[in-house]
Amino acid sequence: MKHAILVVDFGSKYTQLISRKIRELNVYCDMVPYNAELPITPDTKGIILTGSSFSVNSHDALQFPLNKILGKIPILGIEYGAQYIVKELKGDVQDAENRNYELGALKNIQNSHALLQGLTDGAETFLSLSDQIQKLPQGTQTLAQSQDGKTMAFAINESNTYGIQFHPEGNAEDTFYQIIKNFTLNICQCEQNWTSQAFVDEAIAEIRKTVGSQKVVLGLSGGVDSSVTALILHKAIGDQLTSIFIDHGLLRYNEFNDVLENYKTLGLNVIGIDASDLFLNALKGVSDPETKRKIIGKTFIDVFQKEAGKLKNVHWLGQGTIYPDIIESVSFDGSVKVKSHHNVGGLPEKMRLKLVEPLKYLFKNEVRQVGKLLQLPENILYRHPFPGPGLGVRILGDITREKVATLQHADHIFIQGLKKHGLYDKIWQAGVILLPVHATGVKDGKRTYGNVVALRAINSLDGMTAQIYPLPYDFFNEISSEIIYQVQGVNRVVFDISSKPPGTIEWE
Ligand code: XMP
Repeated sequence: MKHAILVVDFGSKYTQLISRKIRELNVYCDMVPYNAELPITPDTKGIILTGSSFSVNSHDALQFPLNKILGKIPILGIEYGAQYIVKELKGDVQDAENRNYELGALKNIQNSHALLQGLTDGAETFLSLSDQIQKLPQGTQTLAQSQDGKTMAFAINESNTYGIQFHPEGNAEDTFYQIIKNFTLNICQCEQNWTSQAFVDEAIAEIRKTVGSQKVVLGLSGGVDSSVTALILHKAIGDQLTSIFIDHGLLRYNEFNDVLENYKTLGLNVIGIDASDLFLNALKGVSDPETKRKIIGKTFIDVFQKEAGKLKNVHWLGQGTIYPDIIESVSFDGSVKVKSHHNVGGLPEKMRLKLVEPLKYLFKNEVRQVGKLLQLPENILYRHPFPGPGLGVRILGDITREKVATLQHADHIFIQGLKKHGLYDKIWQAGVILLPVHATGVKDGKRTYGNVVALRAINSLDGMTAQIYPLPYDFFNEISSEIIYQVQGVNRVVFDISSKPPGTIEWE
């Protein structure tokens, strides 16, 4: 493993962002909840303690064994993290009545100090007006202040320990990230060798070592994660890998054939299975969203198991698990949510195969960088996320072949329109939903009573929150006419203007 920074999470919403920024410096960064065993190795060069919605003075403050690492490794505390350091070292932190933040500017910046290099007085940042550091521990140097003289950055040089009283927000991120960069490169002296090429080289060596001459089976979905997993496994073990791509009948228009062709061109040994009849029969008459998901999941496992069972001597199951799938996150009440995500829920348990998950340390953007390096075609590389149950959760209510065909057609017009107008790559996820509602309309001079479809286009970082993408009115005009005139049975198009939260991205 490469030089690394470890981010200890106290429930800040910036934990993942900070980690991603460090990785953008080509330095590996790991995250761990505040109450977990610290996975410190000789390659861990520094530790960041994040902010929190808790107060260090409250009875339920989140506790952390600071004394175990103090003076042994560079530490940077951010807000709660900084206050925790101050309190533990017999300084004083004053409670605030309100937890507020305010755009402000720093003064008296000691930019000859390695932590604040490159910053000058007036540097903008989002100042924390919550708990304030009243008295610094002995031997502490103040590195920057707010305009009214509050300590905003400090150093305890003797123990290589630092603290800042602000976080990255809006337009005032630059100051914050400059400090993160200074901490990582100047103070922790991390080598910048976390690159896609280095990752691929290491992953290939690791796969060869663990898998040896045994065989691996992998389920491909057409998405970027499973495709990059296939490419990297293929590069490591060649034809010892067999991939299975199942058509559950709920894919996008022509997607099965297009993607299968792509995979074959890439030299992958892939078996395409058209199981749409099986899935659509199993779903007949079922309207409840969770029951539909369960049926699709179970049928998928059955089909996969049957096909994989035909292969001889397979010991491994490849999975496109990525970093956000496995990290544990600290929630607002301090509890830790343990993820037990599997791309294909339940498959590993059922098949009693050993798991190989080469992408489990990568964020999505890093998966794409690796995919690019391995020459994954752009139409897969930049494909929007698509749910496992596919159009099954975009046909509200029960599913029939006719409804699937109607939705595929409308969705195809929408997605092609986004591509034609250069909008597709600006949007995180888009699709059409077939509503169980009929509305009146007029087509060719005749009154109609047809289906309603909803367009959804959102931007998001990770699917946890989402904002609607502001599509232009002219685009709406063009697409709604195309859908209404070309898609049999649809006579009305609406646009979903709900953010997440409170709306979810999918309608079911
Ligand atoms: P929601 O609807 O929860 O979606 O806001 C967040 C992201 O997850 C995708 N999604 C799914 N993916 N199986 C999947 O593999 C599912 O059952 C499922 N439901 C939602 C959704 O498309 C979005 O990207």
